[in-house]
Amino acid sequence: MDKFLIKGGQPLQGTVAISGAKNSALPAMAASLLTAEPVALHNIPRVRDIITMAKLLAFMGAHVSVDACPAADYCISAKTISHAEAPYELVKTMRASILTLGPALARLGIARVSLPGGCAIGARPVDLHLNALEKMGAEIHTAHGFIEAKAPRGRLQGGRIKFEKITVTGTENILMAAALADGETLIENAAREPEITDLVVLLRKMGAKISGDGSATLRVEGVQTLRGADHTVIPDRIEAGTFLVAGAITGGDLTLLNCEPEHLGATIDLLRKAGVVTETTGPNRVRVRAPRKLNAADVTTLEYPGFATDMQAQYMALATQAEGYSTINETIFENRFLHASEMMRMGANISIDGHRALVHGPSALSGSTVQASDLRASAGLVLAGLVASGETIVERVYHIDRGYERIVEKLRAVGAAIARVHGQSQ
Ligand code: EPZ
Repeated sequence: MDKFLIKGGQPLQGTVAISGAKNSALPAMAASLLTAEPVALHNIPRVRDIITMAKLLAFMGAHVSVDACPAADYCISAKTISHAEAPYELVKTMRASILTLGPALARLGIARVSLPGGCAIGARPVDLHLNALEKMGAEIHTAHGFIEAKAPRGRLQGGRIKFEKITVTGTENILMAAALADGETLIENAAREPEITDLVVLLRKMGAKISGDGSATLRVEGVQTLRGADHTVIPDRIEAGTFLVAGAITGGDLTLLNCEPEHLGATIDLLRKAGVVTETTGPNRVRVRAPRKLNAADVTTLEYPGFATDMQAQYMALATQAEGYSTINETIFENRFLHASEMMRMGANISIDGHRALVHGPSALSGSTVQASDLRASAGLVLAGLVASGETIVERVYHIDRGYERIVEKLRAVGAAIARVHGQSQ
């Protein structure tokens, strides 16, 4: 297994280009199942989860090529779908495989997806996706570890769906299913993440009739067929947030390029409370600088436009360097503090009480060997390593490879002393 070796203490300086959003690219790729025509997608990050999604679509019978369309990162042509199935081997490595359920069912009237199990950050059921598809007329059974779904007479019906709880991929699955269903679907208590709006923009280019994007109520008028499209996915707001913290925690001066400042509101507000200076220096640029002394600041993770759970581990790393007590409330996932115990091994003063973490800083972190438990936890540990004295070894970095494009190269280019050490096998 690969590891990262980090020598902390270097202030990061310079510019870093933000990649396309993994969590926009995944549903965009799944949406290509809705049409027999090619869908060209640009700004797709080269990360492990994208490769897994490409493998899944190819398994289903789609033709997936990289850089084949002029200037496109991915060109996906699902002219025919031979297997409307997401097998266990792929689903177990990436829960977002569930995103193929809605589009495959809407296009073919039948789909089979291995049930995703729990994961490090919590149980993560998919009941809300399944209940919503049932409201659209789908007959769903689970057997032998698979979700088996069928649409009577091959077509889903529009319906009124009110999500009990806001779900990002659940909203995306239903949007894609409703785009090809008969009649109108009203989705209430929908997620409002920028990745949802990006999917709506793509679906509209494909001929879908959707209104209400950016709000909690989406209205979809189903159409008979959808066409191919050309789409550039939005910048990754979590990667951008991670680099903002990297600049701040190291007392550096970083400028992020190719980012969308509008999507970074909650992160920037919190960093400002902590004393970090950020400024938008152009339409897609944000500069971050940090004073010598950071202040403690409390935060609660919430659905967009609130502070993202996907930024919580990175903020915890920063809070270890801030003066005073910072309370971090995690409201989205039940078990998303696994990085805290690793940060404590580096000398952080953190206590956990259920969904709440209390961080007392500043602590002088000392380089240690730590284990990454999930994608964003790994990012938090890398950030802690950037300010720790001596050498930090982050193990199991295959987690970080799922969602951060060339993170070692990007950090090195702005002055971090970080290297990847290749292991024997994963
Ligand atoms: C998406 O996951 C993201 N993944 C996650 O990013 C992100 O952490 C999460 O949204 C929250 O923002 C992708 O976009 C591919 P949810 P998703 O359904 O859609 C519960 C990363 O690091 N729930 O919005 O799976 C669920 O357990 C990843 O990039 C149900 O109870 O999250 C959680 O507590 C990790 N039943 C809450 O809702 C359901 O059927 C929100 O989850 C579905 C969800």
